[in-house]
Amino acid sequence: MEHDLQVRILKELLEQLDTGKNVDAGVQYKMSTDVYTCSEIAAREREAFFLEHPQLIGLSGDLPEPNTWFTIDDFGVPVLATRNQAGEFKAFLNACRHRGARLTKEARGKGSRFICPFHAWTYSTSGELLGIPQQDHFGPLNDACDGLISLPASEHKGMLWIHPAPEGELDIAAQLGQLDDEITSHDFARYVYSGETVLEMNLNWKLANDTFGETYHFQKLHRDTLGQIFYGDNLSYETFGRNHRFVFANKGIDVLRALPESDWKLDEAANLLYFLFPNIQLNIGGSNIAMIKMYPHPSDPGKSLTRISFYFTPEMIAMAAAAKESKGIQVVDADNVYEEQEREGEVAFTLEAVTEVFSSTIADQDYLMGEQQQAAAESGLLPHVWFGRNEPALHHYHNTFREALGMPLLEPVLAEAKD
Ligand code: FES
Ligand SMILES: [Fe+2]
Repeated sequence: MEHDLQVRILKELLEQLDTGKNVDAGVQYKMSTDVYTCSEIAAREREAFFLEHPQLIGLSGDLPEPNTWFTIDDFGVPVLATRNQAGEFKAFLNACRHRGARLTKEARGKGSRFICPFHAWTYSTSGELLGIPQQDHFGPLNDACDGLISLPASEHKGMLWIHPAPEGELDIAAQLGQLDDEITSHDFARYVYSGETVLEMNLNWKLANDTFGETYHFQKLHRDTLGQIFYGDNLSYETFGRNHRFVFANKGIDVLRALPESDWKLDEAANLLYFLFPNIQLNIGGSNIAMIKMYPHPSDPGKSLTRISFYFTPEMIAMAAAAKESKGIQVVDADNVYEEQEREGEVAFTLEAVTEVFSSTIADQDYLMGEQQQAAAESGLLPHVWFGRNEPALHHYHNTFREALGMPLLEPVLAEAKD
């Protein structure tokens, strides 16, 4: 991100902290809770946003070298994503051309061949059919039968995008719009995949996304966890078509007051979150990225799956490894990572502790609220919820998805000029 933009955002956050104000959309909205429970809306969303929409499935680090691969089974089309022998990113339907068995059920791996577990037809990482056992028994194949079914795939500046429909269009620059240059300035290609967490919980996928839509709850729900690190009630917010940028201050921002602007760095003073329509939150730190992908359940609007993938810079991985090996440094565990952070210099973080805390905060705090919200919506007795002036990301997200489905937009309830 350009330094001028970093400074502009940091000044906005500092001014909010100094004046005791949060971001102010100037309007509130009231939204019917049926968007979290209605089967008909859920079916349309799944079709429009998942089966007929480009999907960001990972970063280049998910396929670190030729002949590496991973599988996806999160949105209705079983996908096998590969980096072939030549280093090119490819995506296929994870289905053997003989009679449709999955070529692999493993999450990810390395190898130049896929051997179908059913009758051992063999394919390359480019999807070519390499061999058929006992072909003299089986008989010849016509051209339509050879090779895996290819899906549109594009490695765009360190991001792995696919389209789940073989004839689907992938125009990633258009998808990212004005955010393209800014978001890809983070040099995604250098980050190393470092594990993931999957949460399958009883909340609509949009409720899962809502939890990343305001900082109003930080000093309440997360008082003893994230609230120790971030200020909360503080947000720099900007929309870019259907996507947005969401930045909030951490307590390191106070250090900036004594530094010249030329030394200000956003990632040392704030947390940066990009929302990429329809279901991606990209949390970007200086040395780590968490990609949070939220998917609806295939038939139950009250359930969803969230896949959180973690990536670290090579330098951070080396530092963590060195810290683990060093006898003089105590390595913290996940349960006390917040408390230990204050004892600077005495401890080192394991990457596992960082990822565990991130995931458990979402599961045990945010999504716990989400499951309660889902239960209330399903009771049929809570007709609507409110989005405040300090929750503009929720305004934008819900109106964006409604507009995309041809639903009437939310009506502002209270319109007041900003101060
Ligand atoms: S289904 Fe794959 S070899 Fe038969
Ligand atoms: Fe939260």
